[in-house]
Amino acid sequence: MAITLFPVMPDFAAEVGDVDLSKPLADDDLSAIKAAFWKYAVLIFPQQQLTQDQQLAFSAHFGPIERDRTLDPKATPMRFSGAFADISNLSAEGKIWGETSRQRMYKAGNKLWHTDSSFKRLPSICSLLYAETVAPIGGHTQFADQRAAYDALTEAAKRKLQGLVVEHWIATSRRRSGFSEFTEEEQQRLPPVPQVLVRTIPQNGRKSLYVASHAGRIWGMPDSEGRALIDELIAHVTQRQFVYTHRWRPHELVMWDNRCTMHRGTDFEDLRWVRDMRRVTVSDVANSCEQEGVAFPA
Ligand code: OGA
Ligand code: MN
Repeated sequence: MAITLFPVMPDFAAEVGDVDLSKPLADDDLSAIKAAFWKYAVLIFPQQQLTQDQQLAFSAHFGPIERDRTLDPKATPMRFSGAFADISNLSAEGKIWGETSRQRMYKAGNKLWHTDSSFKRLPSICSLLYAETVAPIGGHTQFADQRAAYDALTEAAKRKLQGLVVEHWIATSRRRSGFSEFTEEEQQRLPPVPQVLVRTIPQNGRKSLYVASHAGRIWGMPDSEGRALIDELIAHVTQRQFVYTHRWRPHELVMWDNRCTMHRGTDFEDLRWVRDMRRVTVSDVANSCEQEGVAFPA
């Protein structure tokens, strides 16, 4: 039986049924999933039972899996190997984290609108987040369509933004969410990186904005002007007509295109309820400036 698709919005976010991601996929099913992914940018797969290896195997269809951790494991012990980002509120021992734990402080940044790994020189094409246990209330994930937001800009705005290069830096988003305790090792490993502000999605030719909480300076602009423009664009992209709010069910996998969406986690009582999720992040083919043919200083 072929996969079944239920779009949430006409061309943003779709639920996918009649597929078991724990098994090797038929070629037709994989092609249909990929075609749907390029079109909808967010896919929701309910009622899956995935081991870590099965989640990795499905993710690998989309490119090489990021294996480097953002945080230094010496400063922040984690439950998983480097192939997984732990998106739970659990400590390395599997207990609800402490109020002042380093993980909790760092992950508060996930409540800001962002896209994963734009602060890496080689950014991410997509993320695949699997929910084991969900919070009974709160703890949703919201997604914003940066392609639709680009389409809605005036022609004058599109011309102004074309070719601009933005500096993405993990410290920019973390400073905004109140976390500044990066270790020396983390600071060395995660310097600011260039990304284009407008990018083209090769699979369908659609243009998209590429902003995130990690975005800071715009090259060739005074800092305050660049900051104001980024804030204005984030406000534009996250207007409700571009946003889908995902309410999690247990054992659900959601994947999103990091090149053309932003997301954020909504609040929940994280010292009371367990919310246990793990994410695989897949690398893009090149830095976004290289993909667009936009030159940037070394
Ligand atoms: C992520 C993320 C937000 C959430 O997994 O990359 O930002 O809802 N998650 O936990
Ligand atoms: Mn994220």
